[in-house]
Amino acid sequence: MANLFPRKANRVFPLLLVGVGLIATGIVSGLWYYFTPKYTRVGYAPTQPIAFDHALHVTQLGLDCRYCHQNVERSANSTIPTTQTCMACHLQVKADSPKLAALRESWQSGQPVRWVRVHKAPDFVFFNHSAHVNRGISCAHCHGAVNHMPVLTHDQPQSMLWCLDCHRDPAAKIRPLDKVYDLDWRAESPEAQREMGEKLVKAWGVQPPVTCAGCHR
Ligand code: HEC
Ligand code: HEC
Ligand code: HEC
Ligand code: HEC
Ligand code: HEC
Repeated sequence: MANLFPRKANRVFPLLLVGVGLIATGIVSGLWYYFTPKYTRVGYAPTQPIAFDHALHVTQLGLDCRYCHQNVERSANSTIPTTQTCMACHLQVKADSPKLAALRESWQSGQPVRWVRVHKAPDFVFFNHSAHVNRGISCAHCHGAVNHMPVLTHDQPQSMLWCLDCHRDPAAKIRPLDKVYDLDWRAESPEAQREMGEKLVKAWGVQPPVTCAGCHR
């Protein structure tokens, strides 16, 4: 019987097997990596009791993030505003709007609005907002363009690797303190970011933790 394959095939075939094997493991680990919960939570946008619109309140009305999330620069948590904060305007503005029914109910009953939590680090992770925003890390890096979101959406993976990517190279992200709450701000070019970033990291002695105990205390 004539050779079905040319001689060379003897070598090609094992290589092919290895190749197919590698591709298969690649696909499996790729799926594993991207479809574990930390990746699928990107895009999470639960229905809220009130359809609060960040784009309207921040970009159109010009409210600063800290008007509502006062604690972000002072503590670990960036708290959700109380009904009173909203009522400072909505006792007058759109006072009868059906879209604000749950707000008025909360105002009358004294019970807080039941906002649905969007971002949540596991309990075994130590995270602190003030340590970041007071070191030139903008909300935009970790939450995306909130100022353009009519519906607040989980924008970044917030996985361990994602945290570490920045901790290993903060110069790529760090910005002047007066730009932290300006979510649209960008350095003029990647080179300009690098130059400025390295200066700031040096000037402030920035050294984000990269060892396990830094984030798992
Ligand atoms: C007028 C008040 C107000 C302003 C101003 C405001 N927010 Fe909010 N924010 C809220 C309310 C209310 C919620 C909860 C409802 C929701 O998730 O949409 C919220 C939720 C969030 C969440 C999600 C919280 C979670 O559950 O994980 C993030 C992130 C956030 N805001 C970031 C920002 C940023 C960044 C800015 C500035 C660009 C900003 N907010 C300005 C009222 C405000
Ligand atoms: C600084 C004033 C101010 C604050 C504080 C404020 N809002 Fe508003 N809000 C407005 C204005 C102005 C509009 C737009 C009214 C219009 O469309 O003419 C508006 C619109 C809305 C609407 C849409 C109402 C409709 O009928 O279209 C909702 C819902 C809303 N706000 C919820 C909230 C919530 C919840 C808070 C607190 C977390 C809040 N607002 C805080 C000024 C404010
Ligand atoms: C370095 C990344 C990072 C930055 C910068 C950051 N956040 Fe967050 N944010 C997170 C993480 C992670 C969580 C979940 C925290 C948790 O569960 O303890 C979160 C949660 C929140 C929440 C829900 C309440 C809470 O504290 O858990 C709000 C509101 C919020 N962030 C607003 C902001 C605002 C406003 C800014 C900018 C002024 C900001 N964040 C900057 C990563 C960040
Ligand atoms: C975009 C960049 C960036 C991202 C993303 C980021 N960090 Fe950081 N982190 C920093 C910088 C900058 C500091 C400040 C380091 C300093 O002051 O020396 C810091 C500091 C810290 C500290 C030390 C704070 C303290 O009080 O000692 C912890 C813990 C931390 N980060 C945890 C996290 C976790 C957990 C995540 C992911 C959920 C995260 N970080 C995501 C840049 C980042
Ligand atoms: C910069 C902060 C940071 C550092 C440093 C860090 N981790 Fe994590 N780690 C996290 C965060 C955030 C999560 C949660 C990720 C999520 O919810 O998707 C996590 C999750 C984990 C988990 C749970 C498994 C999982 O995938 O959810 C283990 C185990 C873990 N870390 C071990 C370690 C070890 C071991 C080290 C040291 C080599 C380390 N971590 C260093 C931030 C960090």
